[in-house]
Amino acid sequence: MSILRLPGLVDAHVHLREPGYPHKEDFYSGTAAALSGGVTTVLDMPNTDPPTATPARLQEKARLAAAKAVCDVGLFVGATNTDADAYLPVAPHACGLKIYVSDTFGSLRIDTLDLLHQLFRTWAERADAVGYRSAGAAGGLGPIAVHAEELMLPVCLALADLYATPLHIVHVSRRSEIELIRAAKEKGRAITCEVTPHHLFLSTDDLPRLGARGDMRPRLATPDDVAALWANLAYVDIFATDHAPHTLAEKAGENPPPGVPGVATMLPLLLTAVHAGRLTLDDLLRRCVANPRRIYGLPDQPDTHVEVDVDAMTTLRDDAALTRVGWTPFAGMAVYGQVRKVVLRGETVFQDGQVLAAPGAGQVLF
Ligand code: NCD
Ligand code: ZN
Repeated sequence: MSILRLPGLVDAHVHLREPGYPHKEDFYSGTAAALSGGVTTVLDMPNTDPPTATPARLQEKARLAAAKAVCDVGLFVGATNTDADAYLPVAPHACGLKIYVSDTFGSLRIDTLDLLHQLFRTWAERADAVGYRSAGAAGGLGPIAVHAEELMLPVCLALADLYATPLHIVHVSRRSEIELIRAAKEKGRAITCEVTPHHLFLSTDDLPRLGARGDMRPRLATPDDVAALWANLAYVDIFATDHAPHTLAEKAGENPPPGVPGVATMLPLLLTAVHAGRLTLDDLLRRCVANPRRIYGLPDQPDTHVEVDVDAMTTLRDDAALTRVGWTPFAGMAVYGQVRKVVLRGETVFQDGQVLAAPGAGQVLF
């Protein structure tokens, strides 16, 4: 047994489903699943019901998270078509602004160039007053986060350039996207991006086997797209899961919603890639700890670490995950790396499969 001591991981993209869909996940079950995967900070997306698009909604969500979470939680705000700037007064209390530029689960969607333009402009104007957030500093704004979806990607790159807003591109999955991002970075553009484990470890080849359990937005890509992500990892700033749980009954229904759980399985999948020599441990830690902390200006987590048995081989199972929905698209995969213990601010919050922290041990950031 060889125990490795790591800093607590950040999962910068999760959907913890409260308020609106607690049968899929809530702040307790989602953060418990996070701890089981060595994640001590999650950044939660705004496509709940109601969406996190006004000061009252952000406050309500922060209250729910503070009462239930067992790891630290940052909250994104989102923009709606009908009242695009409603979140602005509380923007410094969010980890960033998420703009939905393509169809997916939930009602958030910005569907005109006019609105998209307005969002970038007002975010930049606001930042002129309060600044952009730097590591650990309270008060400034975080980045704008957008989906990497086909032709919307160059539009968002152009707007970020025009208004000098930090832009973070979530779930990059296609060769065309990573190559465009690479070109923009080579020109010195201050953009960052993230890739999910499912787009690195699954492809369209897995779809016949997975069916709706392999359906998410963006959809699984071809083996050639997957190869392009691995070949361009140098241009990928963050690994984040897009943990988007739906129940198996929903997945088996007429119109299965897109999205798959992932917060508990990111670390073993990546450690298995380290074991196979596809990644170094330093590559992993930069993308799961240092870079998300820098990009979102996250405060320090003192006296926090994860102990993982890197030689322990397990088979990922549907029923092993602490997430409420009880399944994983990676079921059946043999992986290295079992989280034995998680210490958060000096307290053992997870050990040998058990969550020891009381609900509320996690803090709401910003
Ligand atoms: C997400 C969800 O279910 O909230 N689904 C998904 O397929 N990724 C929404 C999203 O992130 O687009
Ligand atoms: Zn998402």
